Amino acid sequence: MGPRWGVIIGGLPNMPNTILVGAQWGDEGKGKIIDYLTERADIVARSQGGNNAGHTVIVGKDKYVLHLLPSGILRKDKVCVIGNGVVIDPVDLVREIEGLRARRIPVNKNLVISDCAHVVLPYHRQIDELREKAKGRKKIGTTKRGIGPCYGDKVERIGLRMGDLLDDANLLKKLKSRILENNRILKAMGGTPLNAKAVSRDYLEAAKKLRPFITNTVVYLHEAIQSKKRILFEGAQGTFLDLDHGTYPYVTSSNTTAGGACTGTGVPPHRIDRVMGVMKAYTTRVGEGPFPSESPELSDRLHDMGREFGSTTGRARRCGWFDAVATRYATMINGIDEIAVTNLDGLDALKTIKICVAYEVGKRTVEVPPSDVSELLLATPVYIELPGWQQNTADIRSFDKLPARARTYLKKICSLTGARLKLASVGPDRDQTMVVP
Ligand code: GDP
Ligand code: IMO
Ligand code: MG
Repeated sequence: MGPRWGVIIGGLPNMPNTILVGAQWGDEGKGKIIDYLTERADIVARSQGGNNAGHTVIVGKDKYVLHLLPSGILRKDKVCVIGNGVVIDPVDLVREIEGLRARRIPVNKNLVISDCAHVVLPYHRQIDELREKAKGRKKIGTTKRGIGPCYGDKVERIGLRMGDLLDDANLLKKLKSRILENNRILKAMGGTPLNAKAVSRDYLEAAKKLRPFITNTVVYLHEAIQSKKRILFEGAQGTFLDLDHGTYPYVTSSNTTAGGACTGTGVPPHRIDRVMGVMKAYTTRVGEGPFPSESPELSDRLHDMGREFGSTTGRARRCGWFDAVATRYATMINGIDEIAVTNLDGLDALKTIKICVAYEVGKRTVEVPPSDVSELLLATPVYIELPGWQQNTADIRSFDKLPARARTYLKKICSLTGARLKLASVGPDRDQTMVVP
């Protein structure tokens, strides 16, 4: 290993390695944009989150919703990496892999999984659910996939990692001890203790199927960088669901912002060339928590169009106007260079469109989201209004052909956000994407 590391760490020319992050509350259309960008990448890597994510990709008549597998899996000749920062439910991952194989999408040598990624166990899911129930009206509205409790075990240094799946005896020993302790917790919480035998059987079976993929993905990625491969880092969730920077405690349990791509894969910051932020032309949020620019009318309108139902849980997403206070802050945290705006077509029919440019909190007008959730809950949006274009955009394929008012709207939200508009999307299909000159 010795001399090779010297070469890897030594100065490298600029590489077009891109981090793609959600700049709002998740579901910005990251899956669609990843799929579009993957054509020009060699590797797609997930660095955080778990199967709480639901990334939709439409290819022709086929719809795919990816949860743990990077969206790049749908394109031939691309390698997908599940990095150390991801939490993996092995049984569910096997189900996802087999589901794709049944649809003739190969998942073989094109997938590598970090041996350091943590394992989601059935008690994580149950504790997630029991905690939410106990919180009552103060619940977070989690996806109940056990994400918080799994990351909790990681931080407590008592979690199982994918490397533990490589050896049956080791896996059984660790499972037994973790289940023993957690059954006491489950009982105390009013849950159902787990049957260690049944869990062990399921996890051993999944382990056998996943073993060929498990490796040291840090070395894999460093070697790829050395041979000038282009890496696309696929963010899950969104900036305001970030454990540190989001609307805590109404957040997920990982770092969804750009820095998470480095810690979650072991690729150092100076190997990253650009950060792209994906945002909807309006805002959505699923689950509880503050959402200053929420608009019941816009929610009803979008739901009536059959849009904005969750890809993972099927819940109706809360909808609101574009919040430039939030996206400007997202640009700051993530270092967003370029913006991809999706779902522009969702606003096609509107006569006027509002953009939130500041919040009023008590007597103050602020342009930065308050960190304290109780203050953010009191924030009243300050809006500007732009005239709508009232024209269908779904069939438009070039930026110049968009109605002038749609172009003005896009430029306005990007200038308020503070980064360059690079892609605009007017539909879920691959070809409903335009590059902005
Ligand atoms: P992700 O989690 O960020 O990947 O986003 P989701 O897949 O959960 O949700 C985005 C939804 O918007 C999906 O149903 C996409 O197919 C859809 N979508 C993405 N871009 C567009 C667009 O420009 N127009 C329309 N109509 N739908 C879009
Ligand atoms: P993608 O990658 C939207 C939300 C949940 C809840 C909170 C915590 O598809 O954008 P968790 O289960 O993570 O503990 O839930 O975070 N949430 C998402 N919202 N998109 C997602 O992923 C999300 N993943 C988690 O609704 O409010
Ligand atoms: Mg989603």
